[in-house]
Amino acid sequence: MPALVVLVGLLLHLGGACPAGYGKPVKGSPCMICPEGTWSAKGTELCKRCAAGTWSDERGRSSKESCIHCPAGTWSSQVGAISPEACQKCPAGYWSNRTGIGAIDKCTRCPAGTWSSAKGAGSESACVKCAKGKWSPHVAAVSEEACVSCDAGRYNPEEGAGLPSHCRPCPAGTWSDAISARSSEVCQPCPAGSFSPGLGAFSQKACAKCSAGTWSDTIGASSHKSCQTCPIGSYSDVPGANSSKTCAACRKGTYQPIRGAAEEALCIPCAVGNYSNKIGQAACHYCPKGSYGDGFGLTSCRACPEGTSTYQHGAIRAELCLAMPSESTVFP
Ligand SMILES: *[C@@H]1O[C@H](CO)[C@@H](O)[C@H](O)[C@H]1NC(C)=O
Ligand SMILES: *[C@@H]1O[C@H](CO)[C@@H](O)[C@H](O)[C@H]1NC(C)=O
Ligand SMILES: *[C@@H]1O[C@H](CO)[C@@H](O)[C@H](O)[C@H]1NC(C)=O
Repeated sequence: MPALVVLVGLLLHLGGACPAGYGKPVKGSPCMICPEGTWSAKGTELCKRCAAGTWSDERGRSSKESCIHCPAGTWSSQVGAISPEACQKCPAGYWSNRTGIGAIDKCTRCPAGTWSSAKGAGSESACVKCAKGKWSPHVAAVSEEACVSCDAGRYNPEEGAGLPSHCRPCPAGTWSDAISARSSEVCQPCPAGSFSPGLGAFSQKACAKCSAGTWSDTIGASSHKSCQTCPIGSYSDVPGANSSKTCAACRKGTYQPIRGAAEEALCIPCAVGNYSNKIGQAACHYCPKGSYGDGFGLTSCRACPEGTSTYQHGAIRAELCLAMPSESTVFP
C-alpha cells in the first residue's frame, strides 16, 4: 500500500506541487509521503517539520494542527519531533498550564514566597506558599528551605510572603524574641516602669527603664513621656519604678523644692533658723518669734528661756533671746 501511494505521487507530481501530506525531499525529485514529524498542505512542494513544542509519529500529515502539542507542564525545543518523548518536564520550581511550548524558558517560574519540588507541574497551584512567619526572596525555588524565618521582633500572619517587609515589626512599646512568629500576639508589652520607642524590638532589653526620680504604671509604653516625676518634697533612687509609691517623702528637718529628685541627698536640711516638723515638705519654716534654731536640719525650734523672746522669727542662736520690755513700761 505505501509503495502504491509513492508511485501515485511519483507519476502525478513529478513536476510542480504535491498533494497534501506529500513533499519533495529535494527540488525536482518526485513527491514522497511526508515522514513522521513533518506535514505538508495541499499545493506545496516541501514537507514542513512540526514546530518546537509539538510532535507527530505518523506519516503523510496534511496540516500543522496534526502535530500534537506537548502537554501542559512540558516543553520541547526539538523541531520535527517524532514522539512524545521529545516533550520534557518543566523543572522543579517551574510550572506551565499551556500546551505546546517550545522552550524551557516558557515554563513559568514559581513566584517569590513559594517553592515547588514537582517536575512537570501543569498549574500554578503546584507552587507551595511559604508558611506564615516565613518569607522567601527566591523565584523558582525548589524546596521549602528557600523559606526563611521572620526575624525576632517581627511576625507575618500571611502565607506566601515574597518580601522581607511582609514580616511586620512589633509595635513601639512591645518586643518579641521569637523567630518565625505568625501573629502579633508574640509582641509582649514593656513592663510598667519602662518604655520602648522603636518598632521591631527583638529583646526585652529594648524596654528602657524610667530614670530614678520618675515612675510609670503604664504597660507597653512607647515614650519616656509616660514616666512621671516624683512630686516636690520626695525622691526616688530606683530606676524603672512602676508605682508612685516608690517616691519616698523627704524626712522631717529637710525640704525638697524640685520635682523628680533622684536621690535622698537632694532632700536639703533646713537652714539654721528654720525647721520642718513634717515629712515631704517643699520648704522649711522660720522658727517663730520666741524661739531659735541653732543648727541645720532641725525638726523643731528651741523656746527662748522664760521671760525672754526674739525680735524676729528665724532667730539662729540662743543669744537672740532677750528680755522684752513689758507693756507696762511702754505704756505707764
Ligand atoms: C493559566 O494560569 C494562569 C495563572 O494562574 C491563569 O490565569 C490562566 O487562566 C490559566 N490558564 C488555563 C488555560 O488554565
Ligand atoms: C512593680 O515592680 C516590682 C519590683 O520590681 C515588681 O515586684 C512588681 O511585680 C511590679 N508590678 C508591676 C505591676 O509591674
Ligand atoms: C527659711 O524658711 C523660709 C520660709 O519658708 C524661707 O523663705 C527662707 O529662705 C528659709 N531660710 C533659708 C536660709 O533657707
